Amino acid sequence: MNAAKEKMQLKLPKRLQGVQPTLIRRIFERALPDSINFGLGEPDLPTPRFIREEAARVTLEEQNGYTNHAGLPALREKIAASYPHLDLQPNQVCVTVGSQEAMTAAFLAIVDAGDEVLIPNPSFPAYENCVKISEGVPVFYRLPADKDFAFDIEEFKSKITPKTKAAVVISPSNPTGKIFTENDLRQIAEVLKDTGIYLISDEIYSDLYFTEKPHSASEFYEQTIIVSGLSKSLSMTGWRVGWLASTQTDVVKAALTLHGFLTVCTSTISQKASLLGWTDEAERAKAEAREIYKNRGEFLIKLLQNELGLRGTQPEGAFYTMLDVRALGDDLEIAEQLLQNRVITVPGIAFGDEAKGFLRVSFCNTEERMAEGVRRMKEVLK
Ligand SMILES: Cc1ncc(COP(=O)(O)O)c(C=O)c1O
Repeated sequence: MNAAKEKMQLKLPKRLQGVQPTLIRRIFERALPDSINFGLGEPDLPTPRFIREEAARVTLEEQNGYTNHAGLPALREKIAASYPHLDLQPNQVCVTVGSQEAMTAAFLAIVDAGDEVLIPNPSFPAYENCVKISEGVPVFYRLPADKDFAFDIEEFKSKITPKTKAAVVISPSNPTGKIFTENDLRQIAEVLKDTGIYLISDEIYSDLYFTEKPHSASEFYEQTIIVSGLSKSLSMTGWRVGWLASTQTDVVKAALTLHGFLTVCTSTISQKASLLGWTDEAERAKAEAREIYKNRGEFLIKLLQNELGLRGTQPEGAFYTMLDVRALGDDLEIAEQLLQNRVITVPGIAFGDEAKGFLRVSFCNTEERMAEGVRRMKEVLK
């Protein structure tokens, strides 16, 4: 009865039409108990103890009212100092509820109805939805599967039109684990020069790299809006600390206005504890996490090759490999069969058609769990 009523009454506003929970969520909701989770997009390592202790301390000892909408000044200073090449002022940083809010606010702040936004294919599905929410038009540039999802400047260039308002880069990438090289970013900057197009640079995985430390697009292109946070680098997904940072003060100001009405401010307790996110202890925790994920990635790729005869892309950062199952059939069907055998993976199609025939496999698991997961995969795929 209630469901029927809802259907009859709400005609979704245009900005929400076609915006749906992601395929990833829909798969997770149907997972069987005791599944091995290769679908996870968040660290399984614990949040460092000193951060948890600080949160407990401020909860008990301090009054935690609202902070400024833009976040604690001390925290904004630390974030600004993370990008020394930009010499950011406090009004060029806004602390948000995870980088997800920064991303949504960035699009709502700059995109008008009908504006085109270039998004990588494959990419984290929130991007397509954020563009739709802001009534923009998602335009995809391919990261070719046959080149291991590496960036291709000619493809990027070919998608720019007079209607292009913004472009997105995610480095290291979800879902591919690839990093945009310095050369890629320089080429993008060259192409965008004097166009007025904004570049949204998703750097949420920037501390999780296994080769060279990734560059920020903001080093090369002035109109860059950085979207980042502590979720992945310090295993703090549930703490909801992210930020938007840019020399484009008017964009930060517009996003801040939205942020004030959407959330008022990020949790004060989380913000205070996050002040320790730039200490030597935090840097050690980040380095340790990098080492752990690097080893796990190598372990998993070897295992997938040896046990299943399948190739996974070499991760350069984040904690994902794209497993090539094109020879076996449809990725959605394979993911479904694996799900029934208590293994969660994400079909490539969830991230765009360029990743069709691949599964995104994450290594946020112990070696023991991963070995059990691959054993279960073998039962299905043999
Ligand atoms: C590429 C990318 N950007 C942003 C986010 C959002 O993360 P959070 O809101 O926890 O900072 C995620 C989460 O999985 C992601 O993969």
